[in-house]
Parts: sequence; structure tokens; C-alpha cells
Amino acid sequence: MMVRRAQREDIPRMVEIERLCFPEEAAFPPKMFSYLLTYAEALVAYNGQVEGFVVGYTSGKMGRIYTLDVHPDYRRRGVGGVLMKGMEEVLASKGARILRLEAAVENPAALALYLKAGFRKGSLIKDYYGLGKDACRMIKERS
Ligand SMILES: CC(C)(COP(=O)(O)OP(=O)(O)OC[C@H]1O[C@@H](n2cnc3c(N)ncnc32)[C@H](O)[C@@H]1OP(=O)(O)O)[C@@H](O)C(=O)NCCC(=O)NCCS
Repeated sequence: MMVRRAQREDIPRMVEIERLCFPEEAAFPPKMFSYLLTYAEALVAYNGQVEGFVVGYTSGKMGRIYTLDVHPDYRRRGVGGVLMKGMEEVLASKGARILRLEAAVENPAALALYLKAGFRKGSLIKDYYGLGKDACRMIKERS
């Protein structure tokens, strides 16, 4: 499996995976992907086909991870971890020293992955994903 920059040809597959990962109201709308590839940082995990992707952004010393998606058929094989590592390197190369993301408090898989990747839990954000759907902010300071 290799991690590479997302390309325009990857967009249909990224949209498909996004739909499998998140309910419609929480998913990036299909039209947004072209924008993300142009203005944000997007990496895909590729192994004959795209198995997952990650999108992030950097502004000064702050790096943000917007989404991390692994196709359900390829989970628990290290794909998410490798994508996170790749995105951390991209954001760091652009100057990010503090990485931040939000994860649903009811998403134990994501929370476990981010803790394993060295993030710590920050504040709780009430209703971040809609009424009663809270998020946990997660932070990682790079030395
Ligand atoms: C969260 C997600 C990206 C994890 O991807 P993945 O490729 O399965 O993750 P990895 O195989 O790299 O797992 C890395 C570590 O994360 C943790 N982890 C991953 N999935 C887990 C699960 N279902 N339960 C508990 N821990 C889990 C484990 O610590 C794991 O290490 P281990 O396998 O050595 O125990 C994937 O489940 C997914 O796409 N979910 C839907 C979308 C989503 O919720 N994205 C995150 C939004 S904030």
C-alpha cells in the first residue's frame, strides 16, 4: 500500500468512501471534493485501488485534519494510521506545529486511532455534529 497525493481521477472513489463512512448530513458533499483537492491537502492510500483518504489544512503553525476515511472492507489493517502519519508529515512540512481535529465522542475507533497517533484529548464541544452529538477536540504538539 502506498500513500500519495489525491488526484482529480480519485474523486468518485473518495465520494463513494465518504458515503460509506458518514451519514449524509455529516458527509462532505460531493461537490466539495474538487475544492478540497485544490485548496487543502488530500492524500489517498492506494493498493490497486483507493482504500482510504485523509484531508487536512495548514494555516501558519496550526494544522487541521478535516476528515479521515477508510473503506469498511480495509479497516484494521493500518490504513488509517498510515494516512495520519502521511498527513502529519505534509502539514509539518508546511510549518504546522500544532495539529488539531475533532472527533465524535461516540466514535471509539477514531478516538483510539488518534490517541495512538499521539493526540491528546482537549475540550468537549457540545452539539458539534448536531443536537446531542458532541465532539472531542484533539490536539498534538509537534516538537
Ligand atoms: C477510524 C478509522 C479511520 C480507522 O481506520 P483503520 O484503517 O481501521 O485504522 P488502523 O487500522 O490504522 O488502526 C490504528 C489504531 O486505531 C485504533 N482502532 C482502529 N479501529 C478501531 C476500532 N474499531 N476499535 C478500537 N480501536 C480501533 C487501534 O488502536 C488501531 O491500532 P491496532 O489495530 O494496532 O489496535 C475507520 O474506522 C473509519 O474510516 N471510520 C469511519 C470514518 C471515521 O469515523 N473517521 C474519523 C472521523 S474523526
